[in-house]
Amino acid sequence: MRIDILTLFPEMFESPLSHSILKRTQETGIVDIVLTNIRDFATDNYRKVDDKPYGGGPGMVMMPGPVFDCFEYVEKLSPEKGRVILLTPQGQKFNQAKSVELSAEKRLVLIAGKYEGFDERIRTGLGAEQISIGDYVLSGGELAAMIIIDAVVRLLAGALGDEDSPKDDSFSAGLLEYPQYTRPEVFRGMKVPDILLSGDHGKIAQWRRRQAIERTKKWRPDLLGDNKKE
Ligand code: ADE
Repeated sequence: MRIDILTLFPEMFESPLSHSILKRTQETGIVDIVLTNIRDFATDNYRKVDDKPYGGGPGMVMMPGPVFDCFEYVEKLSPEKGRVILLTPQGQKFNQAKSVELSAEKRLVLIAGKYEGFDERIRTGLGAEQISIGDYVLSGGELAAMIIIDAVVRLLAGALGDEDSPKDDSFSAGLLEYPQYTRPEVFRGMKVPDILLSGDHGKIAQWRRRQAIERTKKWRPDLLGDNKKE
């Protein structure tokens, strides 16, 4: 997969992209992540990328010119068309299902804005879909882009050590994950449930499913559709 990120702050991505799974998947060629600075496409001497909103109001709005020029440059860097995504609190809320959907794409083009928002013509003119990572306002789309990249890239084939592991993740089956334990068997008087030491894989699977359902009912009942209320 190729991921292009259009941003005013490419340096913000340096640390998240240079550790753990995101580092490894880039090194092994599972993903190619390319950062392009929107400010490089400003046309005036001050490298201006935002301006006051028409009609008045607080804050500054991202100008369409530099974003369009940046996008048209990035678009030509690869023959794959790519799915164009604008990070904004107005977007459709990101979740695991969206993450799985995006992980099937060959190319993503993420546009992160700063300031109070984008000139509307950026969304309409680029035919971009909008994604929000939650009902709160961040100071820019960069952190949202990083979250989406992290959630998507770990789903790519070969990204995790064990190919099967994403399927047991919380939300993959619409449920929270079952409780996990590792050594020691007893820690400060707290014991690992006997069932997990029994070696009976059928019973363990049953127990885990029941636990996942119980926890979801208790902590995230909003996730349970009618068919999962067991
Ligand atoms: N930019 C600012 N707030 C955001 C949010 N909640 N999700 C995505 N991008 C954003």
